[in-house]
Amino acid sequence: LYVGLDVGTTGVKGILVNEKGEILATANERLTMFTPQPAWAEQDPLSWWEAVKKILKNLSERSKEMGGKIRAISTSGQMHSLVAIDDNGKVLRNAILWCDQRTYKECEEATQILGGEENVLKLVGNPILPGFTLPKILWIRKHEPEIYGKISKIMLPKDFINYMLTGEVKTEHSDASGTVMYSVSKMEWNKDVLKELNIPESVLPEIIPSNGVVGNVKPEVASDLGLSEDTLVIGGGADNACAALGIAVVEPGDVMVSLGTSGTVLAPTKGNQPDPKGRVHFFAHTVPETRYHMGVMLSATYSLEWFKEKFLSEDYETINEEVDKIPAGSNGIIFLPYLNGERTPHRDPFARGVFFGISSYNTKWDMVRAIFEGVAFGIKDSFDILRELKVVLNSVRITGGGSKSRVWNKMLADMTGLRIQKPAVDEGASYGAAILAVSGSMGENPAKISKEWFRVKSYTDPAVENTETYEKLHEKFKKLYTSLKEMFR
Ligand code: XUL
Repeated sequence: LYVGLDVGTTGVKGILVNEKGEILATANERLTMFTPQPAWAEQDPLSWWEAVKKILKNLSERSKEMGGKIRAISTSGQMHSLVAIDDNGKVLRNAILWCDQRTYKECEEATQILGGEENVLKLVGNPILPGFTLPKILWIRKHEPEIYGKISKIMLPKDFINYMLTGEVKTEHSDASGTVMYSVSKMEWNKDVLKELNIPESVLPEIIPSNGVVGNVKPEVASDLGLSEDTLVIGGGADNACAALGIAVVEPGDVMVSLGTSGTVLAPTKGNQPDPKGRVHFFAHTVPETRYHMGVMLSATYSLEWFKEKFLSEDYETINEEVDKIPAGSNGIIFLPYLNGERTPHRDPFARGVFFGISSYNTKWDMVRAIFEGVAFGIKDSFDILRELKVVLNSVRITGGGSKSRVWNKMLADMTGLRIQKPAVDEGASYGAAILAVSGSMGENPAKISKEWFRVKSYTDPAVENTETYEKLHEKFKKLYTSLKEMFR
């Protein structure tokens, strides 16, 4: 049997699967996030490890009850978040997360040192943005020099879990991509970037393939968690790449829309050219010889969760029912879903949420519908950029917590004018991690396994008349941000 883990922002999830991809057991643990200052976001890496240990104990017990044995474990994780350890393997500070916006000054400085944005795009395939790993290292060097001086290794979240399991410090291509210290075209750490910014390569992990072997579970960890000592730990991958792998979004023409805390639109490519304007990211996939373009919204389902938590007492079923009764356009309200800044398409850490156009006629449900539409318009922004880049968009598959919403499925089909497929198994990134565990221990191509395991459950088709209505509303949505841009600063 095989375990796929996903270290997310709101929780850790684990699934136990067999070699046919059938889910035999699942386990979840919740996580807390700290916001020490507005637009900062941190987590304790050891809280991920505690959660992983509970999940692995649970899954190993259940595998024994079934008469099975766990052969391999692989982990997917939130991208970009920085973990730093000292010579003794001690965690030096809380991880600074992907959604943390504190590093915009370091981004500007590093871009300048590296000869401007065009050059940065050539070197690493992406612009330097506040969420990415490199500027977080530069922030620590500037603001916490005593901690910086003690750094022996830096890692991404899932690499830290692999390290705690095996004692080995390794990363793989999909997560290395999101550090902006890695050349996505050459698939190696970029020595020029490291040299110019004076970061020793020795702090970076060795890069292996996503289905490569990190090592065996350490004997003391194996006995603590009820695993056998020959359990393999396989590289794993960035959560978006793993989520895509899990729903067979592995070749040009496939597209994933992930509606989670963040919202992403991911399209694989065999090409080697990033978006020349750096609006969508360009990263290595978890399958061989494949890269992908990805648009990222920072607050997708998070926008709705925030509003629900602060202002609503109804459950999601009722929310969907009420919102479904309101016509497209939310009776005049537009919501900009930029609660904590935005990446695609604006790359603006200063942007904030806006409700626009409220009249005394409106009800709270108009506002909630505006949130659904604002998030969907943000996803449409990414589709429009991908179309501009001539990326083929054939099979669109939706995943993430928000994919359970009928309203969002319909809106996205209408707005993009494309049929949206709902996968039969929707375990998110942990399913992709499980594919890597099987792939790594059997020596099979992960893309092949994912295609064998994938089934469509249902489709949502677009209604052409709505596509036109939304097209007009989207123009207004875009204009609203442009008109307010300067005022966010
Ligand atoms: C992608 C990104 C987020 C995180 C969420 O660039 O920052 O989607 O991966 O865990």
